[in-house]
Amino acid sequence: MKKTIAVVLGTRPEAIKLAPVARRLQSSESLQPYVICTSQHGEMAASTLRRFDLQPDLDLQVMQPRQSLHGLTAVLASRLGEALQEREIDAVLVQGDTTTAMVGGLCAFYHRIPVGHVEAGLRSHDRYSPFPEEMNRSLLGRMATWHFAPTDFSATQLLRENIDRESIHVAGNTVVDALEWMIQRSSSRPLPAGVEDGRSRMILVTCHRRENHGQPLRSVALAVRHLADGHSDLRIVLPLHPNPAVREAVLPVLEGSPRITVCEPLDHEDFLALLQRAYFVLSDSGGVQEEATALGKPVLVLREETERPEGVEAGTLRLVGTDTPRILREAEILLNDADAYRAMSRGSGVFGDGHAADRIAGVLERHLGGGAGDPVLSKGWL
Ligand code: UD1
Ligand code: UDP
Repeated sequence: MKKTIAVVLGTRPEAIKLAPVARRLQSSESLQPYVICTSQHGEMAASTLRRFDLQPDLDLQVMQPRQSLHGLTAVLASRLGEALQEREIDAVLVQGDTTTAMVGGLCAFYHRIPVGHVEAGLRSHDRYSPFPEEMNRSLLGRMATWHFAPTDFSATQLLRENIDRESIHVAGNTVVDALEWMIQRSSSRPLPAGVEDGRSRMILVTCHRRENHGQPLRSVALAVRHLADGHSDLRIVLPLHPNPAVREAVLPVLEGSPRITVCEPLDHEDFLALLQRAYFVLSDSGGVQEEATALGKPVLVLREETERPEGVEAGTLRLVGTDTPRILREAEILLNDADAYRAMSRGSGVFGDGHAADRIAGVLERHLGGGAGDPVLSKGWL
């Protein structure tokens, strides 16, 4: 009988980064996935999964409008606790640093089910930024049995916290697996209507981080507005995160500009088509920093720190914070200095090689399924 791995996810980035693992587990001889979607992000998580030809086996539908962190945590604890009790589960996989991931890990621990943490070891070392994600992933560092670190650097962070070396597996980031899969499928996909005129340079913007809500996001929006007003050859596209706090901060500043397209969240395929076409990116998103690094698209990161220093070292990411004049200064450099632009436009494999899901499933097969497993691990890694 195959062992069951509960793959727990609830937000858009978790769906994207766990989809390759769930798909790989579907073809395992010894393991099978059981996908639990909390729908922390409502319909957005399940619809993202569908783009990878996956369906949740169980959908907990927890999202509430303007959910608080404590309210969401309470509902998730109750619903996920029950879900993990309802059937035989041999291991739980969670990803990253969301409330779904943290509570998924905690509930698994309460049921004495081993936890695999995908994208382990990212740290900013500031417990309030990103908030509450830095705390969530640190807690998962204590709860997990298997730590799937995306890079050698993230593995080192775990070692510094005295996490057992044997439990750390450097796998690469599954975001690259997802990116490759999606791009292969969408080679001839046209861009979403209304975002390209064939002549302009396009800047792609995303923002949503909780610590940027309010004034920092208004300050970002002001920079975007100045850029659009000052450059007739620019087109700026901003797929809006559905969080109402984000919309309230940016929409009043951006409305009415003919060179700014504000749209609803795009499905992953469309978003990647835009990213490939973008001249550069302004973003506070973790996943977008990784994808842009893989594709060689410069990102001005709208944060003061990043837990992804590999991308800064690779040259594609530059930390610019949320201050309007600073963003404008850095954007002007990319727009006007061809050498500076080229230096930030080299694609890099620092975040992964597209085989992370294989490595993760291999470790689980070796530990749970009695299989050979772990075929490509430890080659040149930690
Ligand atoms: C969450 C994650 C964050 C991740 C982000 C990805 C936590 C603590 N944070 O942040 O790490 O980077 O997702 O996007 O888990 N909402 C809608 N419709 C939706 C989605 C959200 O209305 O489709 C609303 C929710 O009701 C809520 C707000 O947006 O009021 C925030 O959602 P929530 O999941 O709590 O946190 P995010 O800021 O999205
Ligand atoms: N993304 C998407 N549609 C959008 C915006 C982003 O599919 O309109 C994808 C993007 O390609 C990346 C992920 O969402 O893989 C990032 O999610 P988000 O920024 O919400 O969260 P974070 O990565 O910061 O946790």
